[in-house]
Amino acid sequence: MEILSFIFMLACILVPSIKVSVANDSIHLFQSINDGKTLVSKGGKFELGFFSPGSSQNRYLGIWYKNIPIQTVVWVANRANPINDSSGILAVNSTGNLILTQNGPLVWYTNSHKQAHNPVVVLLDRGNLVIRNEAETDPKGYLWQSFDYPSDTASFARDEDRMGPPNRYPDVYTMKGTQKSSRYGHWNGIYFSGLPDLQNNTIFGIAFVNNNEEVYRTFIVFNNITIARSVINQTGYIYRYVWVEEDRKWSTYRSFPAEFCDTYGLCRPYGNCVKTQSQACQCLKGFKPKSPEAWISSGWSQGCVRNKPLSCKDKLTQGFVKFEGLKVPDTTHTWLDENIGLEECRVKCLNNCSCMAYTNSNIRGGGSGCVMWFGDLIDMKQFETGGQDLYIRMDASEIGNSLTEENHIKHMDDLDIQLFDLPTIMTATNDLSLKNKIGECGFGHVYKGILVNGQEIVVKTLSRSSCGYMAPEYVVDGLFSMKSDVFSFGILVLEIICGKRNRGLYHKNKNLNLVGHAWTTWKDGKALELIDPNMKESYVISEVLRCLHISLLCVQQYAEDRPTMTSVILMLESHMELVEPKEHGFIPRNVSIEEYLCSSQKDTSSTNDVTVTVLQAR
Ligand SMILES: *[C@@H]1O[C@H](CO)[C@@H](O)[C@H](O)[C@H]1NC(C)=O
Ligand SMILES: *[C@@H]1O[C@H](CO)[C@@H](O)[C@H](O)[C@H]1NC(C)=O
Ligand SMILES: *[C@@H]1O[C@H](CO)[C@@H](O)[C@H](O)[C@H]1NC(C)=O
Ligand SMILES: *[C@@H]1O[C@H](CO)[C@@H](O)[C@H](O)[C@H]1NC(C)=O
Ligand SMILES: *[C@@H]1O[C@H](CO)[C@@H](O)[C@H](O)[C@H]1NC(C)=O
Ligand SMILES: *[C@@H]1O[C@H](CO)[C@@H](O)[C@H](O)[C@H]1NC(C)=O
Ligand SMILES: *[C@@H]1O[C@H](CO)[C@@H](O)[C@H](O)[C@H]1NC(C)=O
Ligand SMILES: *[C@@H]1O[C@H](CO)[C@@H](O)[C@H](O)[C@H]1NC(C)=O
Repeated sequence: MEILSFIFMLACILVPSIKVSVANDSIHLFQSINDGKTLVSKGGKFELGFFSPGSSQNRYLGIWYKNIPIQTVVWVANRANPINDSSGILAVNSTGNLILTQNGPLVWYTNSHKQAHNPVVVLLDRGNLVIRNEAETDPKGYLWQSFDYPSDTASFARDEDRMGPPNRYPDVYTMKGTQKSSRYGHWNGIYFSGLPDLQNNTIFGIAFVNNNEEVYRTFIVFNNITIARSVINQTGYIYRYVWVEEDRKWSTYRSFPAEFCDTYGLCRPYGNCVKTQSQACQCLKGFKPKSPEAWISSGWSQGCVRNKPLSCKDKLTQGFVKFEGLKVPDTTHTWLDENIGLEECRVKCLNNCSCMAYTNSNIRGGGSGCVMWFGDLIDMKQFETGGQDLYIRMDASEIGNSLTEENHIKHMDDLDIQLFDLPTIMTATNDLSLKNKIGECGFGHVYKGILVNGQEIVVKTLSRSSCGYMAPEYVVDGLFSMKSDVFSFGILVLEIICGKRNRGLYHKNKNLNLVGHAWTTWKDGKALELIDPNMKESYVISEVLRCLHISLLCVQQYAEDRPTMTSVILMLESHMELVEPKEHGFIPRNVSIEEYLCSSQKDTSSTNDVTVTVLQAR
C-alpha cells in the first residue's frame, strides 16, 4: 500500500456543546496513562487514548472526537507499529519526549531535541497533542506537536522542508510516494490558485500563514455548531466532511481532485488543461506540441515547446503575454518579492532571461507583490470564471508582428538610462576642469568624470560657438533636448559608415552634405554605394545597412520623429522592424551651416553657453 504524505492539511474543528469534563487533559513528568484511560481536551472536544479500528485486535494510540457517536479517529501515533494487547503505556520523559511502551520495549516515541524543563503533555481543544515546558509563556512554544505529524486527517502542519529561503512561494500539494499527485496551488491572498471557488463564505473561512517560523493554512468554522474535517484517502483524494447531527453521519462537503485537470502536471510543460475542450491539454498560445503526432492521440507526456525559442541574447525583443483565468504553475522554482508591484516585477523578470513568467504574489485589493517563475511552467489549468493572470515571456514575433507600442515603450524604460543634474556633473568633472578633459570634437569638449558612487562617466559639452553635428532645432531656436544628441549620434554613425566627414561636398550633387547625400542615395535604393570602400569585406551587409537605416532615423528633421537613445540601443541590438526614415533635418548645402547658423541664431543668452549631455559609461 502506498503511503500518502499529507503535505499540508488542516482543519479547525469546533464542537457545539461544552461538556466540561473532569478528565485530565495533560500528563506531567513521571505520570503516564495506560490502555483504558484517556486524556480529554479542556473544552471536551477531543479525547486521546488506545483504540482498535474496526474489527482489528491491534491497539493504537490515537485522538478522536469526544462527542461524536461514530468513533472518528483524527490522529494515530503508532500506525506502523501496533500493540497486540492492552499493555500499552504512554509517558513523558525528562528530555521532553513522549514514549509509548509495551511491557517495557519502545513502540513509538517523539524525537524533540528542544530544551526541556518540566515538560508537560497537553491535549488541546483543536485536537492537537502538544508537549511544552510547564513554565512556557509563549502559547505556541511547543517542544513537539502532533499537528506537525498528521495522519490522514487534516490538521495544522508545518511544512519544514518546503520552508527553504524566505523568498519561497509555498505551494500546497499531495504526493504519492515521491511524486506530486495533485496541487491546490499557492495561496494568493484570497484562495489557493487551483481552487478559486474555495473562499471565505458564511460558514467556513480560510486563512494562510507564511512567515519565517512556519507555513500553514487554517480552515475556520464561523459558528459553534458546524463540525468539519478534511481527510486524505489512500488514493490521494482529499475530502472535506461536515457532521450532520440529524443524520448522525459525516457528509461530503467537497473533494479534491475534483476533475481530470487536477491531475498534477497532466499537460506537462507549457500545456494548459482546459476541461471544456475535447482535448483537455492545449498548448498555451505561442507554444506547440513537442510531439504533434502523439499529442493528437492524447499523448501529452512531452508537453509543449515554444514556436520561437527564446535566446538570452535577444531579450530586448522579448515581452510578456498576459494569460487570464489560470491556475498558475508549480512554484517550486520561484522567487518572491512582496515589496514590489507588477511593473517592477515585469522589469525584473525581463532582465533575467531565465525568468519565464511573473504575476502578483497577492491578488487581494487589486494585487500586490511579485512572484517570478524560473524554468519550465508546469501544472496550469484554465478556469471559465475566476483564476489568475500570468504574464509569460515570449518572443516579440509571438506578441504581434513586432513588439506592441506599449511593450516597446516599456522596454525602453527598462534600460537603465539615468538623468543627472548639472551640479552632479560639475562635481563629477571638477567643474569641467582641464584635467578631466579627454578630447575635443567638432561639437565641443569631452570630459571624464567620476560619480560619487565611483561610476565613471563621459561628459560631452556642446558649445554654441561650434556647429552637429547640431540638430536643426538647436541651431535655429537654441532648443536642446535629448533628441538633439540623437541627431549628433546619427551623423557620427553616418560618418563612420561612409568614411567621410559630414561637411565635405559630394560631387554628384554639389548641394548636398553627407546627410543629404546619404538620404537621397538611400531613397534611390542605392544604400550600398554609401559604404566606405575601405571597409572592404570586413562587415556584414545587413548589419551595416541596419546601422545606416538607424542613423537616418536619428537625423530626421523633427525631434519627435527621432528615436530616443534607448530606442537606438534597442534597435541596434535587435532585429525589430524599423520604420522608414522621414525627411532629414540637415540644412541644404547651398547655404553654409555657418551662414545658416549665424543668420538664424537669435542669441538668447551669452555666447559661451554650454549644454551638457551625458553618455553613460557601459
Ligand atoms: C490528573 O492526573 C493526575 C495524575 O494521574 C492526578 O494526580 C490528578 O488527580 C488527575 N486530575 C484529575 C482532575 O483527574
Ligand atoms: C505481542 O507482541 C509481543 C512483542 O512484539 C510479542 O512478544 C508477543 O508474543 C505478542 N503476542 C501475541 C499474542 O501475538
Ligand atoms: C526520552 O525519550 C527519547 C525518545 O525515546 C530518548 O531519545 C531520550 O533519551 C529519553 N530521555 C531520557 C532522559 O531517557
Ligand atoms: C477569511 O476569513 C478569515 C477568518 O476570519 C480571515 O482571517 C481572512 O482574512 C479572510 N480572508 C479574506 C480573503 O477575506
Ligand atoms: C462560540 O462559543 C464560544 C465559547 O462558548 C463563545 O465565546 C463564542 O461567542 C461562540 N461563538 C458564536 C459565533 O456563537
Ligand atoms: C478515494 O476517493 C476516490 C474518489 O472518491 C475513490 O475513487 C477512491 O476509491 C478512494 N480510495 C480509497 C482507498 O477509498
Ligand atoms: C536570474 O535569477 C536566478 C534566480 O533568482 C538567479 O539564480 C540568476 O543568477 C539570475 N540571473 C541573472 C543574470 O541575474
Ligand atoms: C537652396 O536649395 C534649396 C533646395 O534646392 C532651394 O529651395 C533654396 O532656394 C536654395 N537657397 C538658396 C539661397 O539658393
